[in-house]
Amino acid sequence: MDPERDPPHRRSTDGLSRRLSDFPNEPSPNGKPRRRDYDGWLDRWVATVSDLTRLKNTHPMMDAVIDEQIGRQIRIGDRWLTDWASCNYLGFDLDQEIIDAVPEYLARWGTHPSWSRLLGNPVLYPEIEAQVSELVGSEDSLLLATITHIHMSVIPVLVGDGTIFLDGRAHKTIYDGAMVAAGHGANVVRFRHNDHEHLEEVLRASDPASPRLIAMDGVNSMTGNAPDMPAFSRIAGDHGALLYVDDAHGFGVIGERASDELSGYGTKGNGIMRHFDVPYDNTVYVAGFSKSYSSLLAFIALPTRLKDALKVLAPPYLYSGPSPISSLATTIAGLQVNRTRGDRARADLWRMTHRLLDALHEMGIRTPNTSGFPIVEVPLANHEEIDDVGRYLFEHGQYATMAAYPLVPTDEVGFRIQVTAANTDEEIGSLIEVLGALHDHFLLEQSVDAAASAGLA
Ligand SMILES: Cc1ncc(COP(=O)(O)O)c(C=O)c1O
Repeated sequence: MDPERDPPHRRSTDGLSRRLSDFPNEPSPNGKPRRRDYDGWLDRWVATVSDLTRLKNTHPMMDAVIDEQIGRQIRIGDRWLTDWASCNYLGFDLDQEIIDAVPEYLARWGTHPSWSRLLGNPVLYPEIEAQVSELVGSEDSLLLATITHIHMSVIPVLVGDGTIFLDGRAHKTIYDGAMVAAGHGANVVRFRHNDHEHLEEVLRASDPASPRLIAMDGVNSMTGNAPDMPAFSRIAGDHGALLYVDDAHGFGVIGERASDELSGYGTKGNGIMRHFDVPYDNTVYVAGFSKSYSSLLAFIALPTRLKDALKVLAPPYLYSGPSPISSLATTIAGLQVNRTRGDRARADLWRMTHRLLDALHEMGIRTPNTSGFPIVEVPLANHEEIDDVGRYLFEHGQYATMAAYPLVPTDEVGFRIQVTAANTDEEIGSLIEVLGALHDHFLLEQSVDAAASAGLA
């Protein structure tokens, strides 16, 4: 076969794997219109995310195949890089005590009992739910496989035909859950990101007699910052609205404050509500184990009456396959390790994150991170340099998350570093060196101090 004359996309007989625009208006064999095959519908969809598509197809730090991993060192082809794209904040994915716990659960339960939860629950589920409720301090909790499942199925139930007040920068999965609810008759009103005064304005203008749900992130997945949770909770209470919080990135990292805490993240990693000492009144708190606990599982902290209702109303509880047993096992073992060694892991995370933030500050490189939480985004002054900046990082052994348009608006294009407890001080040192050199080659946004001393602020 001549690869020039017969490139891979032409070899398949499947219309979708050929370049769709190559076949305009070919008639179908049975004479019926074949609009979906040849009218370019997929090309048009792909064109809406053309920047991302280009990066996916050409950039070594997107859609990469990782060949091997040792600690937080990953091998792609013949190149070893430090992984800053992992969200396994506590390093539990690599924890030997947790890894060793898995085989015993597999021996007892097999790899995957495929009952939906309503059909049958291994006893591991109620065990985990009891531990989660105790950890976060909620009346009850309900496990489902992912946060995405929760948003899609629980938001529509909570709001019915009422109104969702959606944070302007809510995570895409919350937005999608709101769109499912809209399909069932809910109204969606956006309020400016993190702006509780604007929220209060739009709440005042709404009908207090209809159900109202405020949906937003806890610790933000891009900036690493937390909203003013006490203010949002108070406003929800004042207006009789329900507050729905997705704390995918806070749970496991930050938690209740204590006089003997080992770091500013607080203790226990029991999430944003406990960190800011905000009660669960009027609140449904959602978080997952797939980041800090490295396990495919998520939960809703909620009153028992709502839990019982969701068992017959939330489709994933009724129909979806469950989390694999290995994930239930790593969650149980992870909760145990969190009790014994979690605060030490969080202290390591705090130390390494602060070393990185201090270095950025000293180099005059701006990051939106003002919280000290371990998500550190570095925006570019010129978003068109994203391709080259990513390549520079890759070639200098640093594997970061590319924040390209339309994942973020053009003025926030850059890269994101997540520190985990499994990173090392040496890796942080090398990263800082590379960022310093990167700063000499490319236009990064300057921190306020640096801009002021250059006469720009
Ligand atoms: C804020 C937020 N919510 C939800 C998700 C998706 O979580 P899951 O994989 O459990 O569906 C993510 C994933 O990155 C996230 O950052």
